Amino acid sequence: MSAYIRDRREFLRLALTASCLPLLPGPGWAEALADDRTSWYRKAKFGMFIHWGPYSQASVEASWPIMRPKPGEITEAAYRALPQTFNPVKFDPHAFVDLARLAGQEYMVFTTKHHDGFCMFDSAYTDYKITNTPYGRDIVAQLAKACGEDGMPLGFYYSPPDMHHPGFRDTTKLAAENWHGEPQRPEWPTYLQYMQLQLTELLTRYGPAALIWFDGLNDQKKYNGAQVLEMIHEMQPATLVNDRIGVDADYETPEQFIPTAIPTKGIQLTGIDPEVSKRLKNTVPRPEDFRLWETCMTINNTWAYNKNDHEFKSEQTLIRSLVEVASRGGNFLLNVGPQPDGQIQPEFQQRLRAIGDWLTLNGDSIYDTTYGPIQGIAGLRTTANDKSIYVHLFDWPTAACEIPGIEARVLSARLLANGMPLTFHQTEGKLIIDLPSKAPDPNVSVIALKTY
Ligand code: GLC
Repeated sequence: MSAYIRDRREFLRLALTASCLPLLPGPGWAEALADDRTSWYRKAKFGMFIHWGPYSQASVEASWPIMRPKPGEITEAAYRALPQTFNPVKFDPHAFVDLARLAGQEYMVFTTKHHDGFCMFDSAYTDYKITNTPYGRDIVAQLAKACGEDGMPLGFYYSPPDMHHPGFRDTTKLAAENWHGEPQRPEWPTYLQYMQLQLTELLTRYGPAALIWFDGLNDQKKYNGAQVLEMIHEMQPATLVNDRIGVDADYETPEQFIPTAIPTKGIQLTGIDPEVSKRLKNTVPRPEDFRLWETCMTINNTWAYNKNDHEFKSEQTLIRSLVEVASRGGNFLLNVGPQPDGQIQPEFQQRLRAIGDWLTLNGDSIYDTTYGPIQGIAGLRTTANDKSIYVHLFDWPTAACEIPGIEARVLSARLLANGMPLTFHQTEGKLIIDLPSKAPDPNVSVIALKTY
């Protein structure tokens, strides 16, 4: 484990447990981080996304079967009845946190409410919630407690679209008819109020909220994002907010893809013109222009548990995706959809552990780094911090490795995983490193360069 992770875990553990923060604002974690709210997140790089709800019983995608029904898929009535049988008796919040730790994940984001409106927490403002299922216990509370004990930052996914609330849409109709929401109806303000009340519950009952992950879908302006943001920060100044409630807030969220250029403040990633993207591909922005971002991605093709979806990405693909994201300064939020019994399926576990094994040896090249100085060279990705440049090799060169464009003076080179020193010479504009004939790691081998 790197010194960085140890120190940070210790810090978070002390802050989370010592001050406890049952209600915020208060002393401790939130305030300590408020002056530099994003620094923990910039360093963390890798998180676990969890999409879980009664929908996991039907092996269908979360919420979408009622919003965009497909012929032959579950009916809205059958989907709506799923909470009546939801009973994940094997759920152990510590097992989730332990798995995230083994994977090297440094934060978790949990679906407290997806678009279907079902709440995985014991909200006082709806009956459509986990405590009214056969299971009967608040899952968010259990996870928040386990995360608090472990020092694991926990963020809340919260869907502004809500198919169940009569203020969001006329619920006498099928969701497929009006899932975009109906802000023109006089009932709309009751929905905005409901959102605020539920966010207040999430921000006052469950300890420090590392972040709120909104998923606003279309026409996000209708949620009055600026006001929501203000409200969140009155309760927890350090809580980060993503960009899906109509305001830019703290970071961008490319979904199921890794941007090919490093995002900067002036250029939105989503919908980026391919020509602009091509032009930016090899450019390295100034730190003050960098725009924080996070790619969220599934391991197979569904966010929710789906027993029929066996299209799992390989360990190598996932490790390389993490490297790719880190090389452009982003975070990687990798999703799991737990089973209806509360366990995480073995195929996900195996892949997460493999990433963790790779990070145990190579984590210094990911955590606490940002985009590297060399961009746009096939088979090679770089990350950097103030003392080192990390060269990630996807293709192992047959002889020496030649890297153009390293301006910093290189003091030493070694294989990160085993510390083996490497000989090199640096001429104007080019670094040549002698390598062993075989790649030490079949997934990604990393060379650590100490720089001035
Ligand atoms: C999409 C989907 C949603 C999923 C989210 C995760 O916005 O609507 O089902 O939760 O992506 O990024």
